Amino acid sequence: MSASKKRRVALVTGASRGIGAAIAQRLARDGFHVVVHYAHGAAEARDVCAAIERAGGSATLLQADLSMSDGPQYLADTLAEPHIDVLVNNAGIAPFEAIEDMSEGSYDRLSNVNMRSLFFVTKYLLPKLRDGGRIVNLSSIVARTAFPGIPAYSATKGFVDVLTLQLAASLGERGITVNAVAPGVIETRLTTGLLENGGAEAVQSMQALAGVGTPDRVAGVVSFLVGPDGAWTTGQVIDVSGGTKL
Ligand SMILES: NC(=O)c1ccc[n+]([C@@H]2O[C@H](COP(=O)([O-])OP(=O)(O)OC[C@H]3O[C@@H](n4cnc5c(N)ncnc54)[C@H](OP(=O)(O)O)[C@@H]3O)[C@@H](O)[C@H]2O)c1
Repeated sequence: MSASKKRRVALVTGASRGIGAAIAQRLARDGFHVVVHYAHGAAEARDVCAAIERAGGSATLLQADLSMSDGPQYLADTLAEPHIDVLVNNAGIAPFEAIEDMSEGSYDRLSNVNMRSLFFVTKYLLPKLRDGGRIVNLSSIVARTAFPGIPAYSATKGFVDVLTLQLAASLGERGITVNAVAPGVIETRLTTGLLENGGAEAVQSMQALAGVGTPDRVAGVVSFLVGPDGAWTTGQVIDVSGGTKL
């Protein structure tokens, strides 16, 4: 078999920073060529690719704004790889807005990035995803337990969980597994405001385990799900929250 046929490819959406960047770097260490997707953070995405290459891995960049209705199609059309083995649907936004404060514009943007794009990126990449491939979606513990002030965001993660289950059932015939990871509060730009001014202590008081969750914790579970030991697990939502609100 030629080297290019053996090369395993993982595409991680929203890999310019935070959890996506950690997943991209972890999967590169696991031996995947990683397609580092970003929307606006070109410099940060380039830094992620450079870090992967410094560590001996390989990566390429892919830009697409998934808040736009043509973003998923653009992403699929721009992807140079003929095949992928792993799709990690990680890109997401989290406006901290109560129902009283949320505008229709903010709702539509949230809905496009967290739900619509996840659905259509998956749809358009299915022909390129090899049989036996893996899909991992980023959910959240807020789909199972109520946190104040983020009702619409939480509902988008309920969508992720249901879609994960449904796709696992239908894609099993191609040997494709579909799972979700559900982090608790993880230290990234998305949660900076939440963790300031005593927020970190409040978060930890809800966890069974001590400490603040980091992107590497999530990346490790994704590595398991897309690796050989994850081959018999599908349709599951795996909690990565240090035991939050058990
Ligand atoms: N942090 C947490 O506590 C936590 C907990 C549970 C679940 N999650 C989920 O984990 C995922 C990653 O979160 P994070 O904390 O790592 O967030 P983050 O640091 O804010 O990173 C978000 C990523 O999504 C990308 N993105 C944002 N808007 C986009 C758009 N319009 N089109 C395409 N990509 C876009 C960003 O790319 P650009 O910068 O290039 O725009 C960035 O790479 C999200 O799905 C989030 O809901 C996070």
